Amino acid sequence: MCGIVGYVGSRQSLPVLLGGLKRLEYRGYDSAGVAVIDPEGRLRTAKRAGKLGVLEEELSTHPIADGVTGIGHTRWATHGGPTDGNAHPHLGDDGKLALIHNGIIENFAQLKEELEGQGVVFDSETDTEVAAKLLGVEYRRTGDLRTAFRNTVARLDGAFTLLAVHEDEPGVVVGARRNSPLVIGLGEGENFLGSDVAAFIEHTRRAVAIGQDQIVVITPDRVEVTDFAGDPVEVAPFEVQWDASAAEKGGWSSFMLKEITEDPDAVADTLRERLDGDDVVVPELAELGDDVLAQVDRIVVVAAGTAAYAGQVGSYAIESWARVPVDVQLAHEFRYRDPVVGPHTLVVSISQSGETMDTLMAVKHARELGARTLSICNTQGATIPRESDAALYTHAGPEVAVASTKAFVAQITALYLLGLHLARVKGTLDASARAAQVRELLAVPDKMRTVLGTHDRIAELAHWMADTRAVLFLGRHVGYPVALEGALKLKELAYIHAEGFAAGELKHGPIALIEPGLPVFVLVPSPRYSDEMHRKVVSNIQEIRARGARVIAIAEIGDVAVLPYADEVIPVPLAAPFFEPLLAVVPLQIFALELSSAKGLDVDQPRNLAKSVTVE
Ligand code: AGP
Repeated sequence: MCGIVGYVGSRQSLPVLLGGLKRLEYRGYDSAGVAVIDPEGRLRTAKRAGKLGVLEEELSTHPIADGVTGIGHTRWATHGGPTDGNAHPHLGDDGKLALIHNGIIENFAQLKEELEGQGVVFDSETDTEVAAKLLGVEYRRTGDLRTAFRNTVARLDGAFTLLAVHEDEPGVVVGARRNSPLVIGLGEGENFLGSDVAAFIEHTRRAVAIGQDQIVVITPDRVEVTDFAGDPVEVAPFEVQWDASAAEKGGWSSFMLKEITEDPDAVADTLRERLDGDDVVVPELAELGDDVLAQVDRIVVVAAGTAAYAGQVGSYAIESWARVPVDVQLAHEFRYRDPVVGPHTLVVSISQSGETMDTLMAVKHARELGARTLSICNTQGATIPRESDAALYTHAGPEVAVASTKAFVAQITALYLLGLHLARVKGTLDASARAAQVRELLAVPDKMRTVLGTHDRIAELAHWMADTRAVLFLGRHVGYPVALEGALKLKELAYIHAEGFAAGELKHGPIALIEPGLPVFVLVPSPRYSDEMHRKVVSNIQEIRARGARVIAIAEIGDVAVLPYADEVIPVPLAAPFFEPLLAVVPLQIFALELSSAKGLDVDQPRNLAKSVTVE
């Protein structure tokens, strides 16, 4: 999961490359580097460990000659630590060629041994440098960058997006991809390459996604796309639906804060154009065929992290409405468990980036087993939707912060659209019952805005708890995956131990963790929909209070039953059970952000993480 950008045109490339890397930095920020062909046709490079700012500082104190052809890279380290030497770009052995890479080259060791046997000397510990040295050898043998590139990628196993420039071919950038993303930005007299459209969105919104095992050559006036054998392939340009400003912080202190405030719009925009009055009609699902959907007898959700928790939340409603069993499986576990999948199984992948390798490989496995596949994704033109039978895009807009927030609520919304569409097609929920759920969905954005109004109180709480070393989260029914998500947010952002439990599980072991002063968030269901579940959760609160826990209850406005037992109550508006998670998660997102800020940590780019995990 690195950020990659390429440019060729008439402008000075460094500002274009650095601007693109800035927008891609959420994909990885262990090191950054650039390579350009200067006006004299010389290859110039600069690279430094650390965030992009370190490279920018280097370039201001030690400028390099710029040119109109260049590539840039921001790294999430896989092979070799985040050092200057391991930073990309890496060079061919004659120093005339530079290459950058996103992914993992699985057979790099034997290739390295073969090249060392030919006397090639390596400067880094990376798998990427093996590709650079191999390309350099191939270029010397063939004298043509396109041919050398084809010969090189034919020898690589694993996942890779590669870009390269050679000083003998100024005005040309060559790229290739296998199991890792690459998109083209189409300009006037200039063209771009990037890991995703954020790389060039400030220059053009016309894009083309490169397919599996394809090579692209861009010059200022031409774009050639071929397969690895060199045969031309058809491409389908698309218009990016959001503009550069949407990916800007826009005055917010962090992307994460901006994106939490966009939770309501993410729900509203995902619903848009998928409701017919007070019923649900999802055109993208019709692509699968309502007759096919009517025969679906099992749904398997494959996802990772927050996306998997969204799947867990959505599974309750889909089972209830469509009477189809829903099994949520971690994508990286799915394909190793010999899953039971048949022609009437619908495998639903959930992925904000659409590039998570674990999820992509699970989707491919599901298709091999004969399942229909639906991608719920937030990134147009991404690999997973293109590898699926149909795609139901969430319309959350670009999510830049590594910690997923608005995408989570949009994913749940998309799952509810799926559940209601299935219920209509299967006849398991009549029109009035569907209309009641649609009304609940339409009411969510305004209720979320009410919850956002509690931000300051939650911030006080977080700053007061800045030194806490552990936090637990308890929830029942749909509150349970919300507890898991709340814990994940805290782990990601505040680097402290946080764990989510099913509240009913407490007495089966976890209650031993309770000690005086330990903060515990409890998601309390409204008593107006399930008095029994409400009473059980209040009992759980009493049990942990009796052992000294500090209880922060997230409960319906006016729920007086929790007042005697909770140290703090964060009120949320009344919502039907399936819709409570969309409200209850907002305070947990805010809490994690504020605790991270209180600890002086980087909210948008937490340590060790990247926005999209494009390696297994
Ligand atoms: C969520 O805050 C994390 N960044 C992570 O768990 C993420 O949800 C997971 O890696 C899946 O990413 P995807 O939605 O892009 O597939």
